[in-house]
Amino acid sequence: MNEKIIQEYKQYSQHVDSKFLQKEMNWICEKLLKNIERFQHQFPSACTTNHQYRLKANDDWTNGFWTGMLWMAYQYTKNEKFYAIIQENIKSFEQRLNNHFVLDHHDIGFLYSPSLVMIYRDTHDQSLEKPIIIAANKLLDRFQEKGQFIQAWGQLGDPKEYRLIIDSLMNLPLLYEASKITGNMKYAQKADAHYQQVINNIIRQDASTYHTFYFDAETGKPDHGATHQGFSDQSCWARGQAWAILGIPLHERIIQGSHDQKKWEFVFEYFIDKIPQDLVPYWDLCFDDTSHEPKDSSALAIAACGLLEVEKIGYRSDAKMIAEGMLYALSTNYTSQSDEDYEGLLKHGVYAYAENKGVDEENLWGDYFYMEAIYRLLNPEWETCW
Ligand code: GLY
Repeated sequence: MNEKIIQEYKQYSQHVDSKFLQKEMNWICEKLLKNIERFQHQFPSACTTNHQYRLKANDDWTNGFWTGMLWMAYQYTKNEKFYAIIQENIKSFEQRLNNHFVLDHHDIGFLYSPSLVMIYRDTHDQSLEKPIIIAANKLLDRFQEKGQFIQAWGQLGDPKEYRLIIDSLMNLPLLYEASKITGNMKYAQKADAHYQQVINNIIRQDASTYHTFYFDAETGKPDHGATHQGFSDQSCWARGQAWAILGIPLHERIIQGSHDQKKWEFVFEYFIDKIPQDLVPYWDLCFDDTSHEPKDSSALAIAACGLLEVEKIGYRSDAKMIAEGMLYALSTNYTSQSDEDYEGLLKHGVYAYAENKGVDEENLWGDYFYMEAIYRLLNPEWETCW
């Protein structure tokens, strides 16, 4: 492990106190308030173009992040302007289920955890239980008995799409929530089976990760890893590694005793060893400071939330300090505090480099996880939405 990087994060953490956190949160809420003046009931696109979000229907994998940010902002400010939009967002998420609108993929957890589950946990509003269960059922419909995993994309059973992806770790908490609400353990059992397939196949010998992993559609046997958004099949996509840094401890929190501490430590060590001088990773961990490639700030925001989960389950006693240092590294050079016209919070993210999508732009999950990390630190008892 590159202890120098760890020490640098820890030094940065000294700047993170309640005054810093409140300042960040006030700024975030002001920016969101300004954004909703223009967005009204429409949803922002997954990433910005020239630092502006495009306005869209609730039709992507990222819409839940928007509702989650509005909910945290509402809880923090009690400003009714947020509440009014949230009510419209809830209806939109219910309609999306009723119409099965753009839901033929596995990102149903990304959609419904930061939206309906987050609100449900804070309000205990029982009217949200039904849509949460419907969403979980749709996710479960993608479970492949042959191979014991949830197929990420495409037509079910298509051999060319017979794969899982590392991001899917974040879709599983919705299934655990469904088991909690219904008492029916089938959701949790399938979630755990899928988790085992991710964790046993997607982490390479050197603790780097594949973005996606294929299974044989005939036999269900693990077949091969491949990338989708990373630089190459053999490289390590930064955000994928970050999804594992958050996804593994989330699973441990829910399924106590999952014994994945060593795996988490290896995955985390690999990530830290690839961190460049300014403490924010490049979009693929194969790059270094000689590469002139863009950074992916969102990967660090996700990793910071992972460390705040790790703090809860005790994998590392210094996890909170490292998370704080990561946030401070982002706050100094990567937030849009001096860029009044930028609509996103976290600059210098990469959505999909090969498709030239959101390269060196803000994106909703970068904004969301930066805010979630600040909100977690301000509210240590908060359960989160995961
Ligand atoms: N889950 C898709 C992404 O991280 O870009």
